[in-house]
Amino acid sequence: MFRIFMINFKELASTYKTPLYIYDLDAMKAQYEQLKSAFKGRKSLLAFAIKSNSNLSVIKNFADLGSGADCVSIGEVRRAFLAGVPNYKIIFSGVGKSDDEIREAIERDILYINVESEAEIGRVELIAKELGVQCRISIRVNPNIDPKTHPYISTGLHDNKFGVEIDAAKRMYIRANNSEHLDPVGIHFHIGSQLTELDPIYESAVIVADLVRSLQSIKIELKFFDIGGGLGVRYKDEETIKPYDYAQAILTALKGLDLTIVCEPGRFLTANAGYFLTKVLYEKKNGAKRFVVVDGAMNDLLRPSLYKAYHRIEALTQSQTELSDADVVGPVCESGDFFAKNYPLPILEHNDLLVIHSAGAYGFGMGSNYNTRGRSAEVAISHGEVKLIRRREEFEDLIALEKEYLDN
Ligand code: LLP
Repeated sequence: MFRIFMINFKELASTYKTPLYIYDLDAMKAQYEQLKSAFKGRKSLLAFAIKSNSNLSVIKNFADLGSGADCVSIGEVRRAFLAGVPNYKIIFSGVGKSDDEIREAIERDILYINVESEAEIGRVELIAKELGVQCRISIRVNPNIDPKTHPYISTGLHDNKFGVEIDAAKRMYIRANNSEHLDPVGIHFHIGSQLTELDPIYESAVIVADLVRSLQSIKIELKFFDIGGGLGVRYKDEETIKPYDYAQAILTALKGLDLTIVCEPGRFLTANAGYFLTKVLYEKKNGAKRFVVVDGAMNDLLRPSLYKAYHRIEALTQSQTELSDADVVGPVCESGDFFAKNYPLPILEHNDLLVIHSAGAYGFGMGSNYNTRGRSAEVAISHGEVKLIRRREEFEDLIALEKEYLDN
């Protein structure tokens, strides 16, 4: 990714301490503009998938560019509003929404709710009826296509819990079209994340576009063709899909259909614009095995532990020693607490810094307080200026919701 300003990691570490998340807002903006321009000449809405990075300042950075928001909980919907995303650009998806969440989404008059099951359409209809309104919906279709990605982030196969089959979708559209309280405006599919092959996306788009055509033949006219997110990024040496090719594949599938294209990118916009900065505590050896112990841990950045995901590590050190393989591990009490296994690094000193790359997506957001560790601070850089966008969690923050219940 193009880094306009050099980031002074050492200075950031001394000002904000470690572990620390750092986001380059200009790089995020460049990614947004690249994808948006791939769809130029067509009506399109990029709805940033907030789950990938839900810091309010990051969402606002996209909202200022005209982005919408793809949300998967009412908490995310509230974040989108707070960050200035207009109601008519907010989408609420997810396989399980509570009645309260559905009610609030309807009351907030968002663009549409993505419905993921026949049971759910019943709940949405009932709640819209109680509120005396008509709710705009879209239906998430599961095209049963293998996206060829990590099984944990594959979502477009019948084996996955997401969406409904074509036949069920058709029934649901007919039902919605006949209901006073439902307004079917869109169709949605999202087959998985970190996609690096275009064919599965194209095949899915063809299947879903065919459904749009068959709905048209029974006078059900949709306005939005929501292609989900999923565009992969380069963590190591992956060949990724070019936004232009992606857009062309969708447009080819949509031939003859004049729907607004909605795209829900997360990782593509944020992953490579984020860095996780951690400090070396010490080196140790168990027999021949070398470990570098750092102050960040799996509670800060879970992807390596959960998916064995690769994140490039850059060592900032004076050390001139030869590289040798080490496991980079954190202080959490789990053998699964690592950022890398057998990673070539020079011998490191106490307080040397490691920059863990591609940490802008599904980094902070998947963090936890496991082992009573406060979550890191987050800073953003824009036009060379650094600002704090989330302060570090302190011990008092962690116990705030429990303390009053302690029996003395
Ligand atoms: N839309 C829907 C309906 C989604 O489920 C997702 C991601 C997105 C959009 C955004 O996908 P993206 O453009 O970021 O690939 N924690 C995993 C990724 C989980 C993705 C979940 N859904 C990871 O760290 O790789």
